[in-house]
Amino acid sequence: KQNLPTYTVEEVSQHTEQSTGIWVTYKEGVYDVTNFVNEHPGGEQILIAAGSSVEPFWMLYAVHKNPHVYELLESFRIGNLSNVDAVSLTQDMSDPYGRDPKRHNALIPASKKPFNAETLPSLLVENFITPNELFYVRNHLPVPNINPETYELEIEIEGRKKSKVFTLEDLKKMPCRTITTTIMCAGNRRSEMTKIKPVKGLNWGAAAIGTAKFKGVPLREVLKLAGLSEEDEENFKHVQFEGDDVDVTGKMYGASIPIWKAVDKRGDVILAYEMNGVPIPRDHGFPIRVIVPGIVGARNVKWLTKVVISKKESDSHWQQNDYKGFSPSTDWDTVDFKKSPAIQELPVISAIGKPLDGDTVKVEDGHILVKGYAWSGGGQKIVRVDLTSDGGKTWHVANLDHQDPAEPPRHWTWTLWSAKIPVDKNTKNMEIWAKAVDSNYNTQPEGFENIWNLRGVLSNAYHRINIKLEH
Ligand code: HEM
Ligand code: MTE
Repeated sequence: KQNLPTYTVEEVSQHTEQSTGIWVTYKEGVYDVTNFVNEHPGGEQILIAAGSSVEPFWMLYAVHKNPHVYELLESFRIGNLSNVDAVSLTQDMSDPYGRDPKRHNALIPASKKPFNAETLPSLLVENFITPNELFYVRNHLPVPNINPETYELEIEIEGRKKSKVFTLEDLKKMPCRTITTTIMCAGNRRSEMTKIKPVKGLNWGAAAIGTAKFKGVPLREVLKLAGLSEEDEENFKHVQFEGDDVDVTGKMYGASIPIWKAVDKRGDVILAYEMNGVPIPRDHGFPIRVIVPGIVGARNVKWLTKVVISKKESDSHWQQNDYKGFSPSTDWDTVDFKKSPAIQELPVISAIGKPLDGDTVKVEDGHILVKGYAWSGGGQKIVRVDLTSDGGKTWHVANLDHQDPAEPPRHWTWTLWSAKIPVDKNTKNMEIWAKAVDSNYNTQPEGFENIWNLRGVLSNAYHRINIKLEH
């Protein structure tokens, strides 16, 4: 190993096809698997790791956590991964996005600058916890490069002369809590709504959602230390958050939540410094991100530098003029953003992750297996997922394979489900629909026509896929 050459993340990422050779990394090793691809027991899927790390996939498919697999992998070793920060080697100082982190190749960008990306829904439904590398990224601006040594969080209570400042060390010294929560972007599944009529927004598929275990300190405890009294909790209405990412006019990303959510112990709002057991990755808010379970992704502010207790909502663009819903007849000439409230708790949603739309599926014992996720905002839990393959004449109730035992209204995570759909011998094509029901007995709308809105948010109609069958 010692005599092998060293490669940067950037160099490895160039090796993704037969012509360049197919390389992958595992921990500090670099491996050439070009000749193994056709022999891989898991098939062509291996290519999703081409040019990147296999670690997130091996977390999803535990068959790899086996000595014979590691031995096999070592036989393909060609080098070592450089521990030099690949970003600093390739950075372009004139590009505001030049200091953005290097991402895993399995994140499919919807836009590169700012970076917005999701993975395949078929990978998401393999595991209750989403590996950090595959967790969707939704950035509006360049990723800040915060020094944890000098990082400070300012807490301001409006009307008070002095605000209180916390260092990262201060926060880490406080009693911590771990919260597992699903975070979803208001634009998840927008690409289906767009098919009805174009909307303005990134063309998200069904993977702008993920579940992670966050460790941090309860926001309410930090607010108490900053001097927030019970009387203040009654007098103030909102908690505003500011990120360290700035736009060209010098404005920070910002958002706010109602104060009850922040001060109620059962709100489970934390200032997180770890995501799935490691310091929060830069893309997801290093070093501190506010986690607001059950509330739309947009309010889970990353790179948090300031909290303001206020009588007013955040006046940021993202609170006032974005992330709001409208009637299908509202267009860009008639829209008045002041008339709609900011989205907070999200409605019930589901999606089929496996198979994917357009896939060819092998029928086994007269059935096919369908897997997916379902989630509802505001701490509601999924009580049922229904599937149909005959346009709603008959419905099959899915098995809820993985669900957190927490009861509503404190159930923050998605439910992973599966269903066996019977298939007739002569059927060649099939359209499958999925809909979920939450603990308020709210369910998804049948189609997009009557929930269409100009920003393409809240896109939660029945999920429909078309597949081909192989008998
Ligand atoms: C199975 C090796 C990457 C998905 C296996 C097995 C081996 C292997 C030896 C059989 C294990 C057993 O049955 O004991 C490797 C190596 C990889 C790699 C050396 C590194 C490049 C991947 C990736 C994925 C993947 C990136 C997915 C994205 C699977 C699946 C199976 C499997 C789904 C199970 C197949 C089945 O049992 O039907 N792999 N794998 N593998 N692999 Fe990989
Ligand atoms: N926080 C800051 N500071 N800047 C941002 O651009 N994007 C928000 C939210 N927090 C954003 C932010 C939006 S719209 C979403 S959906 C989530 O972060 C995405 O979180 P993720 O990138 O960790 O998946």
